[in-house]
Amino acid sequence: MNLQERLEALSRLPGYKTPPPHSGLRMDSNENMALPERFQRDIMEAARRRVDARQYPAGAIERVARAVSSYLRVPAQMITVGHGSDQILDLLLAHLVERGDTVLAPDPAFSLFIDRCALHGLETVRVPYGPDMTVSVDDMLDASARADMIYIDSPNNPTGHQIRRADLRRLAESFGGIIILDEAYAEFGGYSAYRMPKKYPNVVVVRTLSKSFGMAGLRVGYMVADRAISDVFGRVLQYPYPISSVSTEAAVLALERAGEAAATWDVVREERSRMISTLRGYGAFRVFDSDANFVLFDAGRACRRIHKALAEQGIAVRLLGRVGGASGCLRVSVGTKSMNSRFLLAVRDLLK
Ligand SMILES: Cc1ncc(COP(=O)(O)O)c(C=O)c1O
Repeated sequence: MNLQERLEALSRLPGYKTPPPHSGLRMDSNENMALPERFQRDIMEAARRRVDARQYPAGAIERVARAVSSYLRVPAQMITVGHGSDQILDLLLAHLVERGDTVLAPDPAFSLFIDRCALHGLETVRVPYGPDMTVSVDDMLDASARADMIYIDSPNNPTGHQIRRADLRRLAESFGGIIILDEAYAEFGGYSAYRMPKKYPNVVVVRTLSKSFGMAGLRVGYMVADRAISDVFGRVLQYPYPISSVSTEAAVLALERAGEAAATWDVVREERSRMISTLRGYGAFRVFDSDANFVLFDAGRACRRIHKALAEQGIAVRLLGRVGGASGCLRVSVGTKSMNSRFLLAVRDLLK
């Protein structure tokens, strides 16, 4: 393929569409606005004092890996760090499978991951979510015979559904290839499987500080994996300086204050229940259970109208349309109590 053909082939790929910047209520990107601004301000000020930006961030990865190791109580040799978890996912796709290989993933799944499979010339086999917004692990096991890699985001974006621990174990025991478990939202869920790689070396768990620690703008993700995978990833695959010195220091400081962040995860869970029960109480939508910091609901034919009317009031939610058999889905992030109340009241008024 010459350069022209290659560029044409690439330009036919969809590419990831980031939501447009706006100054209203951001409830479309699953950020953790429930984390007080003060937490971030303190950390950023302390990080700035520690940093001399003239120097490369030597030792940054090791520093963050040690901080994650104390946070999770997992050996630092099993932890590697990336420029957001999306960069880690991309490197795994680029190097742990080959062009033409097949990746099995649920449908829906984190759309960036699926886009990157296409970019890397990987085939995807998808197992659809059912009408109750859960995915059958038996169906995944059946489909796995054709796969070289399995990807599961659990809790799943955009359904919010977390796969049962026992089902993950079944998958890990039956599948010979690599399983990427994307736990971007695990801190809001019922459990985390970050210890699985100890027993199942074919499982890698990819996590992020973007959601749980409210640090989406600083781009710090990490992976817990078997030591052999971590070693190759850290020594060969990863760039020398994937995260900036400010992000490094901020990540270390945030992880040291995990207790404060954890208090906000409880608030998110409570607010999530309130949003689900209030939306259900309106009697106009199918509202799905969620283990993440967002809620998916099916507004049927009204979904575009609701999305537009909320946008006109400065409230951004994600318009998804068809998801797992539901025809008109919207996804709303759980924000602060007052953001959530504003959203709920705006929706109630639209139904009058
Ligand atoms: C399931 C899932 N994985 C990974 C990411 C990317 O997170 P990061 O900010 O660490 O790149 C997202 C972001 O929305 C996500 O929904």
